Amino acid sequence: MAVFSYKTMQSELIPHLDTGMHDQQIEIELADTSELPVGERNIRPAHCVVSSKFLQAAERIHNFTVYEDDVWIVTFPKCGTTWTQEMVWLIDHNLDYETARNVNLLQRSIFFELSWIIKKYDGDTLEQVEKLPRPRHIKSHLPLALLPRQLWTVKPRIVYCARNPKDVAVSYMHHYRHLHAFQGDNKVFLEALLTNQVLWCPQVQHTLDFWNIRHRDHVLFLHFEDMKKDLKQIVKQVSEFFKKSFTEEQLNQLAHHLSFDTMKENPSANNSLLVKTLASVGNRRIDFDFMRKGKTGCYKDELPSDYITRLQEAIDVQLKGSDFKFRE
Ligand code: A3P
Repeated sequence: MAVFSYKTMQSELIPHLDTGMHDQQIEIELADTSELPVGERNIRPAHCVVSSKFLQAAERIHNFTVYEDDVWIVTFPKCGTTWTQEMVWLIDHNLDYETARNVNLLQRSIFFELSWIIKKYDGDTLEQVEKLPRPRHIKSHLPLALLPRQLWTVKPRIVYCARNPKDVAVSYMHHYRHLHAFQGDNKVFLEALLTNQVLWCPQVQHTLDFWNIRHRDHVLFLHFEDMKKDLKQIVKQVSEFFKKSFTEEQLNQLAHHLSFDTMKENPSANNSLLVKTLASVGNRRIDFDFMRKGKTGCYKDELPSDYITRLQEAIDVQLKGSDFKFRE
């Protein structure tokens, strides 16, 4: 393949991560990054851990047609993607709660690369995006370099949401066990995550790539922790980004709709349909609330202290020279 370079991942941890949900894991990167926006720091954009099935679609994704009115929600897994998707969809659709209730978020905001990661996914999520009514809302975990190149010429709105990797580690660990059918020891998963061997890794560089272009007019950079701290303020900020003006009452109503307790009970936005879909794809029972805890700082209760130290060290090394800080 001309545009990409990739290698099959090999380590003693890799076989443990093979749950049958995805093909062999590879690390893929865009070979020629000269067309990419890099911001002030001229660093090489992130590569990505994907399933080898992704190779069949990488070029199609690279050349995917983008429209100006598209809305792309980009995150590393477990950073508040679903939360951001529901917020952004409602704001961009003038608070159309009726459609939001009647059409599941999975259909309103399509997971772009999903069918090219999950082995047994029968269908083509890229085609689903092509068929979406405009403005299309698209979710992706791909790093900047692997997203369609027209994002940087057509310049649709891109909303990025970052989350502290220590809380992501906890959230991803539960997600992997329940939704990816991981049966190994938590230690194995955590070690694989720390060494960037889990799907969509690495997280820090993924985040830095978007942090570096956050000042672009069509890019909005959010933090999960800020949404937790003051959701109404973020709802306001996102509304301004979408050039919408809502009354205080409307903003309060939206913040209430997006609160953890309300969203958890909302079958149209709590991803229970995704859990059901993955259960049927894997032909197994899944007893898991996607809306798990929705808190910041869970890592303090759930991660071993020596792991926290090592993860923090790894984060610090990767952030060296950057003005970016993950929120606590
Ligand atoms: P936890 O596992 O820590 O509870 P994603 O959508 O990127 O997979 O992220 C899922 C994480 O976001 C989960 O974190 C989930 O509980 C949390 N989340 C989803 N909706 C939320 C909301 N309305 N308020 C707070 N957290 C939310």
